[in-house]
Amino acid sequence: MTYSASNPVKIAIIGAGAVSDYHHVPGIRIDPRATLTGVCDASQELLDKRRREWNCDNITTDAEAICADPNVDAVIIATPNFTHKPIALAAAKHGKHVMCEKPLGLNAGEVREMYHACRDKKLVHMTAFTYRFAPSMRYLRHLVTSGALGELRHFRSQRFLDWPETSWGWRQYKNTAGAGDLFDMTIHRIDFAIDLLGPLKSLCGATARFAPRTKTVDGRDCPPSEVDDWSSLIAEFESGATGVWEGTTLAKGYGFKGFGHEWAEINGSEGTAVYRLHMPNQIMVGKTGQDLAPVDVPSEFLKPADSPRDASQGEPATVFRYDLVWEFVSAICEGRDAVPSFYDGLRAQVVADSVLTSHAERRWIDLPAEPR
Ligand SMILES: NC(=O)c1ccc[n+]([C@@H]2O[C@H](COP(=O)([O-])OP(=O)(O)OC[C@H]3O[C@@H](n4cnc5c(N)ncnc54)[C@H](O)[C@@H]3O)[C@@H](O)[C@H]2O)c1
Repeated sequence: MTYSASNPVKIAIIGAGAVSDYHHVPGIRIDPRATLTGVCDASQELLDKRRREWNCDNITTDAEAICADPNVDAVIIATPNFTHKPIALAAAKHGKHVMCEKPLGLNAGEVREMYHACRDKKLVHMTAFTYRFAPSMRYLRHLVTSGALGELRHFRSQRFLDWPETSWGWRQYKNTAGAGDLFDMTIHRIDFAIDLLGPLKSLCGATARFAPRTKTVDGRDCPPSEVDDWSSLIAEFESGATGVWEGTTLAKGYGFKGFGHEWAEINGSEGTAVYRLHMPNQIMVGKTGQDLAPVDVPSEFLKPADSPRDASQGEPATVFRYDLVWEFVSAICEGRDAVPSFYDGLRAQVVADSVLTSHAERRWIDLPAEPR
């Protein structure tokens, strides 16, 4: 199938909540090769709202039906974590390309099934690992692959948020979310670390829960949280480099207009480079004997080549997120794999699962290679 502005990729959104409204629908809107042809959500009330806001009349509460719809070529799954697997398998059964939110599933076994189903049907499959698309991350990757940082020795990631201690809804139960901060936040940082430095060999992980979260935002009682609000790991990469990750939603004073604090750095034999989410159009770099200093990301790294998005417009920490849809649609139009794929989602999930095992069993875990 050849797609173009006159024959755009017909995309359905499944899960019309926060992330679809924030990233995915704006991404579809600015891509002339894509059009929104369906919206599915479990809430009829939300569907009625999205019908007006997103100007799409093909709405349904039935995910299987939207996957079977002949007026849909591809789906974006942005529902709670426990529903990703059945919806992705339905999409694969009906031959639809799939972008799915992270974490792809509740555990690596689920994710492996999703990956194999889409791979075996030769569908485009993509994991919505958003931060790979930040301009500073794209430029950091260039510095790594071009050898500018020398031999890569250490990776370090901090993701600190100051979030309310009220209920997280479906996000705070193991059977609907899988895990808390680890699957919600740290998994992104596991993914981009692997993208930058290669696979992990071995890890030691720990998680903790402090907030009971027995009240909803509007003051109703609910069962207590079962998941972590702090997650961490130390690891060795196959390359010999070392990594340290820490994430929490309970870092008081780390609001920063909702973007929180993010710092991810690589120390190489020739220099250090730092990515910060709230400054996505800059990185910090330093050579030995110097202090770290900000450097503007060169214009070719501000957005994907050919994207019509105007990189000078909008809040920088928001607008790069629209590039996920650009990559998904580009992979469909060009008949190639999307990056990051479900394989990348699986690799990160294996690591995240191993953090939980390591903590539960109080031991280091060796990570097996994951076949493609
Ligand atoms: N990539 C990122 O940066 C990023 C950011 C936020 C959320 N997420 C991920 O996106 C997913 C959704 O998160 P959110 O914040 O938008 O959640 P949300 O709760 O705001 O929205 C989820 C929506 O899915 C709907 N839903 C539930 N079950 C359904 C089903 N079976 N079929 C159809 N619709 C169903 C709900 O009614 C709700 O409207 C999660 O997996 C989350 O981890 C990713």
